[in-house]
Amino acid sequence: MILAILPLITFFIPGIILSASAQNVTVGSNNTSQITFGGGAGDASICKIDPDGKVSPGQPGCYNAPSMCTSSVAMGQSADGFASWKFKGSALYITALLDSESPEFTVTIDGNSTDADGARPGTIPFDCFTLFSTAGLDPNVEHTVNLTIKGPSPNRNMTFQPSTIFSLVNYTYTTSDGTNTTTTSTSSGSSPSPSSSTTGNNSAALEHAQVPGILSAFVLATIALMSMV
Ligand SMILES: *[C@@H]1O[C@H](CO)[C@@H](O)[C@H](O)[C@H]1NC(C)=O
Ligand SMILES: *[C@@H]1O[C@H](CO)[C@@H](O)[C@H](O)[C@H]1NC(C)=O
Ligand SMILES: *[C@@H]1O[C@H](CO)[C@@H](O)[C@H](O)[C@H]1NC(C)=O
Ligand SMILES: *[C@@H]1O[C@H](CO)[C@@H](O)[C@H](O)[C@H]1NC(C)=O
Ligand SMILES: *[C@@H]1O[C@H](CO)[C@@H](O)[C@H](O)[C@H]1NC(C)=O
Ligand SMILES: *[C@@H]1O[C@H](CO)[C@@H](O)[C@H](O)[C@H]1NC(C)=O
Ligand SMILES: *[C@@H]1O[C@H](CO)[C@@H](O)[C@H](O)[C@H]1NC(C)=O
Ligand SMILES: *[C@@H]1O[C@H](CO)[C@@H](O)[C@H](O)[C@H]1NC(C)=O
Ligand SMILES: *[C@@H]1O[C@H](CO)[C@@H](O)[C@H](O)[C@H]1NC(C)=O
Repeated sequence: MILAILPLITFFIPGIILSASAQNVTVGSNNTSQITFGGGAGDASICKIDPDGKVSPGQPGCYNAPSMCTSSVAMGQSADGFASWKFKGSALYITALLDSESPEFTVTIDGNSTDADGARPGTIPFDCFTLFSTAGLDPNVEHTVNLTIKGPSPNRNMTFQPSTIFSLVNYTYTTSDGTNTTTTSTSSGSSPSPSSSTTGNNSAALEHAQVPGILSAFVLATIALMSMV
């Protein structure tokens, strides 16, 4: 009889070991089930490079990014180019193919617009850079993003005419997957559900939410022991 109680106690121990785990999800520019493009922006090719380091002939319209930092990229020649998408997560990182002439972009998240200068002085030809990043967003809400061009960068290489070349390589967002993977128990019906937490700090909320479940397990075990005496 007493042996039958021991598994009940150990069963609850993993509940405090598990915690919320953040995860990064990256979506490539070619994933058109996730991203809507407009204003002429869309899938573009990166120039293949000969062994001698020169762009191979016969690749009209390719973009010269000899670092080969990405296999997929979306580019656009017009100031109207944009990409929009939705994501559910707490942080967002946008990667683009940029050079010394790249324009200033505007990143609008849920109607809140932030300018992100794409010019990377000294970079010729293109290479991959983080264009924009933000954190501290509500991880439980679906956010809407629009990446647009504001205009020529004030920090661009003034040797050239102003250009407004749109670019998106990929974006990464941070989810808090796994917050629901804690053990649920038949005997802890009074334990509050972790998913009812609306605070930003899921790991802390989770630990607190699990404590009553652990305590009630020991109470139940104690009651069971006493009733057997
Ligand atoms: C997600 O990616 C960003 C940018 O590379 C990094 O700073 C962050 O630590 C990553 N987060 C996780 C949970 O891997
Ligand atoms: C597009 O992105 C979504 C979300 O990351 C992913 O589930 C899906 O597999 C991707 N599709 C392709 C074809 O890459
Ligand atoms: C995007 O490109 C990557 C790498 O080339 C490939 O693995 C993936 O299947 C492509 N996704 C789509 C939606 O075409
Ligand atoms: C996203 O872009 C970065 C920078 O080029 C690259 O290192 C990374 O492999 C890309 N990730 C995916 C999944 O396409
Ligand atoms: C708008 O975005 C900026 C930059 O990401 C951030 O600092 C600011 O708190 C945001 N404002 C609102 C109202 O969300
Ligand atoms: C501007 O472009 C010229 C011509 O290609 C180049 O020599 C110069 O290094 C560039 N300057 C910057 C800051 O990128
Ligand atoms: C993104 O911006 C473009 C250009 O202003 C606009 O046409 C498009 O409707 C916007 N998309 C979203 C989802 O706001
Ligand atoms: C977590 O629980 C909430 C509410 O029950 C649910 O909407 C969400 O899909 C769950 N997330 C995971 C990763 O299981
Ligand atoms: C979340 O809670 C953990 C554990 O209590 C703490 O170490 C961490 O600083 C908290 N993070 C935030 C953003 O409040």
